[in-house]
Amino acid sequence: MAKRPTRGGQRGEEEFISLQDAAALVGKTQSNISYLVQYNRLKRYDSSGREVERAAAGGLRVSRSELLGYVDGWNRRLRSRLEELKIGDTPIAFLDVPERERTKHVHRLHPYLGKFIPQLVGYFLARHFRPGQVVLDPFAGSGTTLVEACEAGLHSVGVDVSEFNVMISRVKLAEYDAEALERELTDAAGRTAAFSAERFPGRSGEGLGDGRGGYLEAWFAPRSLAEMLYYRSIIPEYEHQDLMKVLLSRTARSCRLVHHYDLATPREPVREPYECYKHRGKTCTPVTTVVPRLRSYSRDTVRRVAEFGRLRKPVASVVLEGDSRTVALEERLGSTGSLRGRRLDGIFTSPPYLGQIDYHEQHGYAYELYGMQRRDSLEIGRRSRGKGENAKAEYSKAMAESLWNVSRGMRAGSPVLLVANDRLGLYPGIFNEAGMKVERMFERPVEDRTERDKRPYSETVFLARVEG
Ligand SMILES: C[S@@+](CC[C@H](N)C(=O)[O-])C[C@H]1O[C@@H](n2cnc3c(N)ncnc32)[C@H](O)[C@@H]1O
Repeated sequence: MAKRPTRGGQRGEEEFISLQDAAALVGKTQSNISYLVQYNRLKRYDSSGREVERAAAGGLRVSRSELLGYVDGWNRRLRSRLEELKIGDTPIAFLDVPERERTKHVHRLHPYLGKFIPQLVGYFLARHFRPGQVVLDPFAGSGTTLVEACEAGLHSVGVDVSEFNVMISRVKLAEYDAEALERELTDAAGRTAAFSAERFPGRSGEGLGDGRGGYLEAWFAPRSLAEMLYYRSIIPEYEHQDLMKVLLSRTARSCRLVHHYDLATPREPVREPYECYKHRGKTCTPVTTVVPRLRSYSRDTVRRVAEFGRLRKPVASVVLEGDSRTVALEERLGSTGSLRGRRLDGIFTSPPYLGQIDYHEQHGYAYELYGMQRRDSLEIGRRSRGKGENAKAEYSKAMAESLWNVSRGMRAGSPVLLVANDRLGLYPGIFNEAGMKVERMFERPVEDRTERDKRPYSETVFLARVEG
């Protein structure tokens, strides 16, 4: 509905620009800009500069000056918080790297709380490794180190205790025929939409359900769940099965019955409209269908894997499921072929921090959806163990064992780069126990990008060397 009539596409000096131009102007992604519009940070205009509640498809505009004002204010707040931390704005903070670069190509195939920014990995790999060498990440998570290594022409090995995390990494690192992939994903999403239309005619699929049943019934609206289960049931008919599982999981994550502002760590399902903190007090309702997201994430996935396909180098990337304290690297690599008999040249990693994240729990919906085996008890430093004295001692011992175990076959002097928020000062002792010597520490401010807590904090990049 039009609110304020204006003449032409400009009001005085004001310019109204498309979401694509807005993204290019401030170094964000188009979805970042839609997010700002959706959450009322920016007003909606049509192409003639009229403020509107809705614009025709493709006709949505934002005001250039409002956008620049918003971004300036955001940057000012961030800088002042960084000053409070009393850490200089060092180059390895990468604060000026635009969002679309931080989340480039396959790095955003699936959300993952606790991943590091690819530019940080690229910076240190370029300074401490040569193309053709082999880098190890013993806490590979969603595979950031391995993806960056592949782009830089380094072979890589990743280890992670979580089956789902290993699947995300393997899917990112696999090679694809983008056209064949697009055909499959379009077909599967189309079939799911047809299934849904037939099963839920008219408005019959709009309910939020009563939550009775198991985990999935509790966290998803009945229509969303039926669509997800249908999609899951047709995956075996396609070639790109793991990628489809990751895509469905990404869709499921964003379609759970949760508050919009609490996707990372929701505590309980939301079954009623609620006052939304992100929408500045607007009343929001959780989604009841996954089809629109399934379609948009399908397109996004094809675009991302095609982009990475153009940048990757022909190197070996091996992802192993295992506990870093005990994984027999030499044996496991001996059996995979591509890196058989190769010595590892060093480590780049970001270990789990003490008492911060439950890595299996954050993807609980995926474990439920695919019946994967959880190994929570093997997670080092997990949140549910807390940060008390016992947890601290256990953490230090586990980290020292891991670093010692995975570096056994490395030459003396091999670099070990480890990114940690070591407020408790545990790492010098951990390196010592693991037979490594700290050579240098780089302090970097970090802008926390989780949904609720936007406060920046600092972390250390340790450069240690394996001792002889
Ligand atoms: C900070 S995250 C790594 C994130 C990664 N750098 C990325 O960008 O995606 C730490 C990872 O350590 C894994 N982990 C925890 N305990 C482990 C263990 N005992 N052995 C191997 N991996 C473990 C967790 O599953 C988690 O994925």
